[in-house]
Amino acid sequence: MAEKIIYDTDPGIDDALGLLLLAASPEIDLLAITVTHGNTSQEKCLNNALKLVELTGITKVPVARGAEEPLVKELSVAEETHGEGGLGYAILPKSAISPCSELAHDLIIRLVRENPGEVTLLCVGPMTNIALAFLKAPDIVSKVRRIVSMGGAIHYPGNVTPQAEYNVFCDPEAFEIVLKSGIDFTLVPLDVTYQCILTTDHLEKITEARSEIRNFIFDSTRFYMEFHEDYQGIKGCAINDPLAAAILLDPTLVKNRDYYLTIELTSPTSKAKTIADHYGLLKSAPNAKVSMEVDVERFMELFINRMNRLQ
Ligand code: BDR
Ligand code: CA
Repeated sequence: MAEKIIYDTDPGIDDALGLLLLAASPEIDLLAITVTHGNTSQEKCLNNALKLVELTGITKVPVARGAEEPLVKELSVAEETHGEGGLGYAILPKSAISPCSELAHDLIIRLVRENPGEVTLLCVGPMTNIALAFLKAPDIVSKVRRIVSMGGAIHYPGNVTPQAEYNVFCDPEAFEIVLKSGIDFTLVPLDVTYQCILTTDHLEKITEARSEIRNFIFDSTRFYMEFHEDYQGIKGCAINDPLAAAILLDPTLVKNRDYYLTIELTSPTSKAKTIADHYGLLKSAPNAKVSMEVDVERFMELFINRMNRLQ
């Protein structure tokens, strides 16, 4: 049976590529897309999600408006990374679809209660919607099958401060609430996603996808590649969120290690750092499986093959 997924996202270029991957994958039963603030404002992310649903033809999947702000800190956006509209140089037609009437956290609560033990939350943005759902309806924590989250950095440097990864940085308090909830939690950190660099050579292999989709991939990633080159000296772009989606399709793409994780919430210099207890010094049971190795070639092959299926 296909795995039931709620995609919690802030599209965002790599979020969009993650959605394309889900749309191309029959192993996935995509129940809903819930949108958060993150790479740009919630409003822009929401419009992007609606446009992407139309682009990929998955128009039956409900798209829900989510949190406009983090729980505690001020809103951040990353328009230098993803462009002013959030999708780089890609311009998609305005969507005719409207968001569903329920707010993201309410939709998550309802869908999890209706499908106890079956729903995976694939979280590729700040964790605000999930924290709001857990705070409002603590009963759902034990009813979620698991969370797979792109976020954090274990040994790898931060990508927004020297120590913090962007999704955790945007709402560290929400991330900590979810980590502490005791839920089955898999983290896909920068340590593995920054090995997955999509290059122009990879793009040239995407020849079969429908032309609008191909153009979207080319135009959005061109901006993302410029960012990576200008700010990080990387040729190509890290496709973080698609890797988190891909491990739902093929868990053998990564090797996980169990860690007890916490999020730094107070230090001015390392706020939002993901702290992993490497040696078990805190004597706390692990609360996360963390992907620490990835088979880059197999992932890239899977990603390109799936993009080629999109018609
Ligand atoms: C994460 O932050 C966002 O900019 C990306 O979409 C990804 O989810 C990488 O740190
Ligand atoms: Ca994202």
